[in-house]
Amino acid sequence: MWMMMLIMLLLLVSNGEEVGGSSGEVEDGIISRNLLANGLALTPPMGWNSWNHFQCSIEEKLIRETADAMVSSGLAALGYQYINLDDCWAELNRDSKGNLVPKSSTFPSGIKALANYVHSKGLKLGIYSDAGTRTCSNTMPGSLGHEEQDAKTFASWGVDYLKYDNCFNTGTNPKERYPIMSQALLNSGRPIYFSLCEWGQEQPATWAPKIGNSWRTTGDISDKWESMISCADENDRWASYAAPGGWNDPDMLEVGNGGMTTEEYRAHFSIWALAKAPLLVGCDIRAMDNVTLALLSNKDVISVNQDKLGVQGKKIKKDGDLEVWSGPLSKNRTTVVLWNKGTSSATVIAYWSDLGLNPTAVVKAHDLWTHSIQRGLKGNISANIESHACKMFVLTPQ
Ligand SMILES: *[C@@H]1O[C@H](CO)[C@@H](O)[C@H](O)[C@H]1NC(C)=O
Ligand SMILES: *[C@@H]1O[C@H](CO)[C@@H](O)[C@H](O)[C@H]1NC(C)=O
Repeated sequence: MWMMMLIMLLLLVSNGEEVGGSSGEVEDGIISRNLLANGLALTPPMGWNSWNHFQCSIEEKLIRETADAMVSSGLAALGYQYINLDDCWAELNRDSKGNLVPKSSTFPSGIKALANYVHSKGLKLGIYSDAGTRTCSNTMPGSLGHEEQDAKTFASWGVDYLKYDNCFNTGTNPKERYPIMSQALLNSGRPIYFSLCEWGQEQPATWAPKIGNSWRTTGDISDKWESMISCADENDRWASYAAPGGWNDPDMLEVGNGGMTTEEYRAHFSIWALAKAPLLVGCDIRAMDNVTLALLSNKDVISVNQDKLGVQGKKIKKDGDLEVWSGPLSKNRTTVVLWNKGTSSATVIAYWSDLGLNPTAVVKAHDLWTHSIQRGLKGNISANIESHACKMFVLTPQ
């Protein structure tokens, strides 16, 4: 405990410099960092969250089985580590001492036992609360005014991650409500990832890097193409604020929930990876089909998301429905997504000038979905792409 607090103190001191709006830029070869003093999220978090598939229908057996499936499917070995409860895990009211109480009908063994189980699988447990008087489902209390107590409760249970929602917020500005929980988590004696979920209302990218490991930039995603592309676009506006330690969050993945085609889900996963978004799976991983598993298991796409440089890729070109998204990676590499949002197949092209590459560069392109390699590319990369599909590459100068 004391050692941990000492480490936190050292992090606090070493991170004391303001980097402001230039966080995420590479200056003089030094990678800047966002500032939260818990030392977490040097790369975007990977894991699972209960909401997109199960909403309020969660209970401890489901969560244990999900942890089992995370390991047996091979996803855990690829870096997916958080098993995150969303809304509806607690009783309607606090106990006589003001503590949150796990719902006895659905979590009879309690959250500490669940955390122990999840930890025994080599995974981490996340929990959910709200910066208001009630959570969004209105089935449990929120943490507003109880931040220190709830943060200590979560720490005592062995919780590793908190998603903090924005319902029943008394009309108080999020810039006042969220820092209190951030500090309470830092005071709790346990490193707990802090995920702000104020839906992008007060431009959180401009203030949340100091207090959170990620901040939602959008309203809730739904399992539809239009929703997914709009989350990607809204999130993209804030790209320059992301950096190791603090990330923009366009909401959790819908891959595998059935509302989009395979190509739409491939684009969803590719763009989330390129944008350094949290990769929180939102389907029932106990019952994934092999296409879903193959999408979520692409090591090359995951390694773009987890690249140590930690610079969010962005939309760099738009020609009607044809888009190019790109960003720098470590080792002088560049990632590119050629994306056809139109209703019929089309050729999408990115020129070296679009990508900020030297005009004379000769490039090797690794296609992260077909695993094929093109060598000797000069001046551009292009592909014919089906409706709503994308191609994703890593370019390396030869
Ligand atoms: C999924 O399984 C089916 C039949 O079991 C097989 O035909 C198909 O190739 C598999 N797809 C992937 C992506 O593994
Ligand atoms: C794209 O680059 C290739 C060489 O890699 C070249 O043959 C082709 O003409 C270029 N296309 C355009 C539209 O510039």
